[in-house]
Amino acid sequence: MDDLRIGFVGCGTHATNNLYPMLKYARCRLQAVCDLDRELAERNARIFGGQAAYTDAAVMLDAESLDGVIVVGPPELHATVGTMVLERGIPLLVEKPPAGTLADAEALVRTAREHGTTVMVGFMKRFALTYGKIHAEMRAGRFAPSCGFFRYTHWAGNSLPGMLLGMSIHPIDLAISYFGDVAEVTAVPYDTGSVLSLAVILKHTSGKWSELMLGCHGPRIQEHVELSGVIDGKHGYYVVDDIIHLEEHTAGLGGVDVIAPSLAEIRPEFDLQDIRTWRPDYGIPNMGQNTPFLAGYAGEIREFVDAILEHREPWTGADEALKAMRVIDVLLQHPAGGTFAVTSG
Ligand SMILES: NC(=O)c1ccc[n+]([C@@H]2O[C@H](COP(=O)([O-])OP(=O)(O)OC[C@H]3O[C@@H](n4cnc5c(N)ncnc54)[C@H](O)[C@@H]3O)[C@@H](O)[C@H]2O)c1
Repeated sequence: MDDLRIGFVGCGTHATNNLYPMLKYARCRLQAVCDLDRELAERNARIFGGQAAYTDAAVMLDAESLDGVIVVGPPELHATVGTMVLERGIPLLVEKPPAGTLADAEALVRTAREHGTTVMVGFMKRFALTYGKIHAEMRAGRFAPSCGFFRYTHWAGNSLPGMLLGMSIHPIDLAISYFGDVAEVTAVPYDTGSVLSLAVILKHTSGKWSELMLGCHGPRIQEHVELSGVIDGKHGYYVVDDIIHLEEHTAGLGGVDVIAPSLAEIRPEFDLQDIRTWRPDYGIPNMGQNTPFLAGYAGEIREFVDAILEHREPWTGADEALKAMRVIDVLLQHPAGGTFAVTSG
């Protein structure tokens, strides 16, 4: 099959900077571009090699023969234009959140199923090289995670829906990707009036838990993840800092110091704890170690295109799309916090 013909709706800041440039890394070409603002649509078609520019998504969908459509903009756009795409039986990739509400996200998934096609949500963190490497270790049976901590303090505001749908959806989805479906959520909010922070504990149906530190007075970019478990038969944990730094810690010598009969007998043991680290090496040009790959944007676009070519459900497809939204729906219903069950739909 020739390269897929992709249509793209939305020529905003994030789409233009982080997603359009990724198309060149996937087996596709940009066929058509759409934005309400004609200048933006024509600009993106010109810069990224689109064959045609439109200001009306319905007109674009009727005029073009597209194999897949990407929609990136406000959450309502994902739901409305996304529905138009799916009703035509065309596979859809929408940015997170898939819609502004759980009900609208569920409707999107229903529409995809009714029309025999797929909807994928752009949970790009799963495709980041570090988080992806941990997934690969799990798939290879080398890492069995037991619990995790996710510090996501990028969001410094006091809008609960804004924070949950705009940012926290990422660590919630990551936690689900490592520990499985969520059975119960406990939330403790702290609101200073200008900054809202939220402590969240997810109890997964696997019996494992994850803990999320959201919002807060952190530096603007602050993302820190720790995943504990058994690595290659040893107790240990992974640390991911700012997406690009990965550490693997495993316990040597049982993980404890030798009890020496006297202080004079103490001998330092260098393998008390084994630590391996990975970080990008920018010393020489290396295509794989640039931000698009490190952050997961290239992997996300590739997964969308490959899933279409291989006639399969994408990794962050219909089922996965709703899981994080269900947790967020519960949190939004109970802004004062507490412990609540999460249904699996
Ligand atoms: N994963 C990430 O790292 C990340 C980062 C930033 C933003 N995002 C997500 O990206 C989205 C925002 O993307 P952006 O910054 O590119 O958007 P933006 O808000 O900058 O621009 C949206 C564009 O969509 C166009 N638009 C609106 N309605 C339309 C319609 N009916 N038909 C055609 N075009 C229409 C607007 O004219 C505008 O140009 C949000 O959903 C956000 O959650 C994700």
